[in-house]
Amino acid sequence: MKILVVSSHPATQERWVEPISNAIPEAEVALWHPDLPPQNADIAVVWSPPAELFERERNLRAVFNLGAGVDGLLKLPTLSADTPIVRLEDAGMAVQMAEYAVWAITRASRQFDDYVAQQQAGVWATLSELRRAQWPVGVLGAGVMGSKVAQTLAALDYPVAGWSRSGKVPAGVESFAGLDELPAFLARSRVLINTLPLTAETRDILRRETLEQLMPQAHIINMGRGEHLVEEDLLALLDAGHIERATLDVFRQEPLPKDHPFWKHPKVTITPHVAAISLQHETVAQIINKIQRLMRGEPLSGVVQRDRGY
Ligand code: NAP
Ligand code: GLV
Repeated sequence: MKILVVSSHPATQERWVEPISNAIPEAEVALWHPDLPPQNADIAVVWSPPAELFERERNLRAVFNLGAGVDGLLKLPTLSADTPIVRLEDAGMAVQMAEYAVWAITRASRQFDDYVAQQQAGVWATLSELRRAQWPVGVLGAGVMGSKVAQTLAALDYPVAGWSRSGKVPAGVESFAGLDELPAFLARSRVLINTLPLTAETRDILRRETLEQLMPQAHIINMGRGEHLVEEDLLALLDAGHIERATLDVFRQEPLPKDHPFWKHPKVTITPHVAAISLQHETVAQIINKIQRLMRGEPLSGVVQRDRGY
């Protein structure tokens, strides 16, 4: 068996090779690069690979994605529609997404930013109490990531709703499903947290028309993908005051261009696509387990459904 590893982060791609080789000693594991002739590989382990990979490697039995989102892979015209794509399922990322959401919300709801400002001004003063009813949270997407985010905030007694296609949400979370129920979901949400996958149906979902339906003084937390958000619409609504703050981890162009208005906007906090990072140990263990299942002819979880795009 031949396994190729290729990542758009050349500096880190080597860290995947050795643990995979050690775990599957019978496999030949190598880094792929564009100068290589076709390798006739069985498996590719990838993050944002170049299109040429799939032009050269025509006999792949499966492609394992080193992340949860597969939008980068699905846009490659060279990847055959018959090649199964297997995404990461949690692998330690969901809890990181939940932490990010708790950080972003409590900075505002518990006024922690204001306490930091008070410290800088040498002020000792208790600010107003938190009334959780004033912070209803809506989580877009209730899959592996969204469920953990919703559950965590519900455990902190925030009123939480989840929006998905199927209506499946964790216990203690109010359920909204499909486009018909999106207006009611938005109307009851002050904090909107996006954990959706990027698909034809979800692209630009965070645009003026939807954001205007949120409760006043809304907060936006985007951990999905940059192309979910129409950035100019967010800026206009922040400036108009309908949206109070935005915490953004993902952007239409990454790295965020140096002259982008988000860098210096007083109501925007940005992070460089780190809400949840792929953890080496958990990621390798999950992928190895699935490669071994594939070799034994057993069914795999986390296989992307091409027709729905996630
Ligand atoms: P997942 O388990 O497949 O969950 C996707 C959720 O979105 C499901 O609840 C699904 O509904 C819902 N959904 C999809 N299309 C929808 C639509 N058109 N309308 C309503 N709901 C829709 O995926 P995941 O593992 O949670 O990952 C989600 C995304 O998080 C990834 O694709 C990636 O973009 C992002 N992510 C970001 C980071 C970061 O660091 N920023 C890290 C990891 C992941 P059903 O339940 O009904 O199927
Ligand atoms: C990161 O953004 C991922 O999709 O895993």
